Amino acid sequence: MKIMDRLHGGKALLAVLQTSLFCVCASYGGDSYAASTALPPKDENGLVKAEGYQLVKAHCSACHSPSLIVQNHMRRERWLETIRWMQATQKLWPLGEAEPAILDYLETWYGPKTQYRRPPLPEALMPPKTQ
Ligand code: HEC
Repeated sequence: MKIMDRLHGGKALLAVLQTSLFCVCASYGGDSYAASTALPPKDENGLVKAEGYQLVKAHCSACHSPSLIVQNHMRRERWLETIRWMQATQKLWPLGEAEPAILDYLETWYGPKTQYRRPPLPEALMPPKTQ
């Protein structure tokens, strides 16, 4: 009987371990896509749903489809030039405080093709290693 008790104890411990491991993974899986290797989801226009998405959607889909953004890959300065061009010739309004956040978003997800992914996160921001 003693052996059976031990076995049961072991199983219970294993169950607790599994549960806590699951919790750790689940908490990292939340909205922090940067912490996982998966790319964030995209909306119906192909726009990446990540930080700044709402601002871009609000300011950049009134005159043309946001797919114009998706088709482009530029450095931050070129995005700014494109915005200035639209402001000078296409009646795009001043973006005010939203401008840096919009540029961050464009630079991160629609930068030059060779580096369209975010750079790897520093070790300190990664989930703990399990082994
Ligand atoms: C007030 C209207 C308006 C708004 C708002 C607007 N655009 Fe534009 N945008 C235009 C027009 C007009 C064109 C030219 C479309 C064409 O060539 O068919 C254009 C073209 C573009 C192009 C293509 C440029 C090229 O060189 O081909 C990109 C990229 C772009 N817009 C991005 C954005 C972004 C990012 C935002 C939000 C910050 C934005 N647009 C908001 C009017 C607007």
